[in-house]
Amino acid sequence: MALQRTLSIIKPDAVAKNVIGAIYQRFEQAGLRVVAARMRHLSRAEAEGFYAVHRERPFFKALVEFMISGPVMIQVLEGEHAVQKHRDLMGATDPKQAAPGTIRADFADSIDANAVHGSDADETAAVEIAYFFAGTDLCARA
Ligand code: PPS
Repeated sequence: MALQRTLSIIKPDAVAKNVIGAIYQRFEQAGLRVVAARMRHLSRAEAEGFYAVHRERPFFKALVEFMISGPVMIQVLEGEHAVQKHRDLMGATDPKQAAPGTIRADFADSIDANAVHGSDADETAAVEIAYFFAGTDLCARA
């Protein structure tokens, strides 16, 4: 199986809780490798652009406000089945529905502040990675 890449964002609530390292440990233990990373405080335009596909949904404004409320940690993860593996680690969108031991079950407080984002498919991952990183930012496996 070829290596796959996915875009991962540790959201402002989880950054504020100081659990970046704890979340990275889960990625690494699951066999996912960080091949690019950047801490950013997103502008409104960046957050609106990133979530443009959800523009018509009722929570769009709240989601953008939340994502610009503090710094986020953005990374590209690489590994076998990276997209699905990362989504399994995250757990359900609503932490109340998230399986025990998932990132959202352990670190998220609500559906509005749900700790992490992950690409939902290969094609989306490529678009989302390119939104934040240039090709030259991605480091090949050592
Ligand atoms: S997904 O991941 O696209 O399948 O999930 P979806 O339910 O379609 O949600 C899309 C993104 O919107 C966030 N979301 C919400 N934000 C605020 N309030 C409410 N009620 C809400 N419901 C969903 C959800 O976390 C997804 O964002 P990301 O960053 O991908 O997690």
